Amino acid sequence: MSITITHPKDSPITTQIILRTRHTTYAIGILYGKFPVHLYYGGKKRSMDLTYRSNFRSFSPFYPEHGGDYLPDTALCEFPGFGYGDFRAAAIRVRDFATGSNATEFIFKKLKKHKGRLPLPAPIFGDLPCAEASEDTETLEMVLSDAVTGCELRLYYTVYPSHDIIARHMTLTNKGGSPVRLEKCMSLCLDIPRGDLELISFMGEHVRERHVSRAPVGMGVKRITSRRGASSHQANPCILLCDPKATEERGEAYGFNFVYSGSFLDELEVDQTGMTRVLVGLGDECFSWHLEVGESFTSPEAVMTYSDKGIGEVSRNFHRFIRDTILPPEPFEHRPVVLNSWEAFYFNIDGKLMEDFAAGASDVGMDMPVMDDGWFGERRHDRAGLGDWYPHPSLFPDGLKAFVERAKTKGVKFGIWIEPEMVNPDSDLYRSHPEWALAAPGRIPLESRQQLVLDMGNPAVVDYLTESFKTCFDGVPLDYFKWDMNRHLSPVYSNILPPERQGEAGFRHICGVYELFRRLRALFPNAMIETCSGGGGRYDIAMMKYSTQIWASDNTDPVSRTYIQYGSTFGYPTAVMSCHVANHGGSIEDPRKLNYGFRVALNGPLGYELNILGASETAKATMSAQIKEYRAYEHLILRGDFYRLLDPFVCGHYAYYFASSDSRELLLTYLQNAGDPKETVYRLRVSRALKGVTYRDTITGNTYTGEELKRGIEVKSSTEGLYAVMWHLVAE
Ligand code: GLA
Repeated sequence: MSITITHPKDSPITTQIILRTRHTTYAIGILYGKFPVHLYYGGKKRSMDLTYRSNFRSFSPFYPEHGGDYLPDTALCEFPGFGYGDFRAAAIRVRDFATGSNATEFIFKKLKKHKGRLPLPAPIFGDLPCAEASEDTETLEMVLSDAVTGCELRLYYTVYPSHDIIARHMTLTNKGGSPVRLEKCMSLCLDIPRGDLELISFMGEHVRERHVSRAPVGMGVKRITSRRGASSHQANPCILLCDPKATEERGEAYGFNFVYSGSFLDELEVDQTGMTRVLVGLGDECFSWHLEVGESFTSPEAVMTYSDKGIGEVSRNFHRFIRDTILPPEPFEHRPVVLNSWEAFYFNIDGKLMEDFAAGASDVGMDMPVMDDGWFGERRHDRAGLGDWYPHPSLFPDGLKAFVERAKTKGVKFGIWIEPEMVNPDSDLYRSHPEWALAAPGRIPLESRQQLVLDMGNPAVVDYLTESFKTCFDGVPLDYFKWDMNRHLSPVYSNILPPERQGEAGFRHICGVYELFRRLRALFPNAMIETCSGGGGRYDIAMMKYSTQIWASDNTDPVSRTYIQYGSTFGYPTAVMSCHVANHGGSIEDPRKLNYGFRVALNGPLGYELNILGASETAKATMSAQIKEYRAYEHLILRGDFYRLLDPFVCGHYAYYFASSDSRELLLTYLQNAGDPKETVYRLRVSRALKGVTYRDTITGNTYTGEELKRGIEVKSSTEGLYAVMWHLVAE
């Protein structure tokens, strides 16, 4: 049983709820039968201290009946409302139209336990993406209610015991007599009774995604947020908090993430008492929801994990959870090695060239040429065509179906690029439906990459796109879609919503995006989807529900990639991180550079992004050998346990390893971007190696004992840059 409910005697805590995972305990108390307070989250614990006493502070208001024993402002709270005694960041703020007040007091009503999990109903289209239940999943539902507004709040805690994950969301229902507005909506609140934690976050920009920063949270409020209508390159909803002394394999760490692809808010506050409040959700700037009497709103799901075995274990908890409960089933026996046309030809593609490209891919053993941007409508450049989803007639004289069938006779699969959510002003779609683009009344639409964003919250838009793709790809034997998204949403205004509902436009938009994903998958069930947003601008758990892999960045320079890939592994499994070898100024003809690009790309599913038709026979032979080598490691890269060793942000070198679940196979990689005149010696400690076992490196034939590997393999840095060493260690 992962959820137990007890009613302690002789304690102000009248009900105690304990959620248990394999290595963690989470405890909630109901104080005086009314107030949901947080008791504990951390390593396994048998019993709680139930002698509840508030941390007294002057200027903190209290209930006369409870005096200083309970101050809403200093309590560890489960889900604090706004404006009623707690001055810290709130998890929920509701405006009551009857009175104009935004104070709420959500009082405990009842608890329910569910086997498995509950769906997250979206206000339009289907349910919101969330993790699938595992066999041992259970859900706690806590019902609270605010007497004045009549609003009912349901908090859900879905426990994944074997993954050490607790997923959380909320539903607010207006059961009062007049409309209310949900002005701030968070999915998760965690009050941690210490104020010295460090925050690990993943900020960035286009071509510099998920750069790691680690710093004390510090006193006051900190917001990691995206207001871009996408989870974004600039911020990522994943955050970790850790003990200042925590390392990859030691110390306490917490991980948080949000199963959502639009604007989000991760809010942290260290208060006067030295506690840290963590909030994850939709926030209050890019979201509000109008609730008529009887209406409900359900938030997306946030997830959290904890480990006292270091930051790396928090990452591995997320990896396992996403692989097991989020990612779609593998579409093929092997992940296809992709050859993408973008960096090879940009917009200068046609049917004949792409057939040759397919033949070139097949020659070197690549599995799937992908025809990137430039094949549809008047899309010969980025100024036109988005929204017009029909093949450009002069590029494919006998149609898309005949073309793809011919390309596949070369013995390959075939993939195609789409960017459904966008429209160029120079398109038939925009000329006939300008009102389908997001744009604020009276304001000139702002362009970004010469494109506007379609209002995906409008069912007519989603229907149009569904029909367009259905017609365009009817009978075309496609194996893969690259679903791109190349601008952010601003202003966010929907022509089909009344003024009081404009705060809903961003959320409704994302619901429409998810619906189109589901429809595309239903229409083409045999095709896998890789998502992309100008590279890794929508690298989030909800996207992973629909896409097998995500293009990690438009930056294909291997040196830059070590940083982006390192950062991406904190919250997300390497199985989703699409890594391509590219040709930078002829780099594939330089054996050292081609080798380095390949070794860097072995951090995730492999692909290539270059003009194979211009490659020398030597480069092609090397790539063929690389693909064979990748196949020997693929199972570890996609499903192995991942350990970070050297942090490129700290020492300029990146090292990591994968371990099979039984630790009998290990894949260790050392990557050195720049030359090191000091020839520093690094010790790469493989903690998962088994004592008493001898491992043979299949690359060099050298053998190592498990003890040696635990103490660490020594690697001396090279005086030259772009230096990579790998060990594929198999137990004898
Ligand atoms: C984005 C993607 C690229 C490519 C181009 C095409 O930038 O990240 O990989 O598909 O769009 O326009």
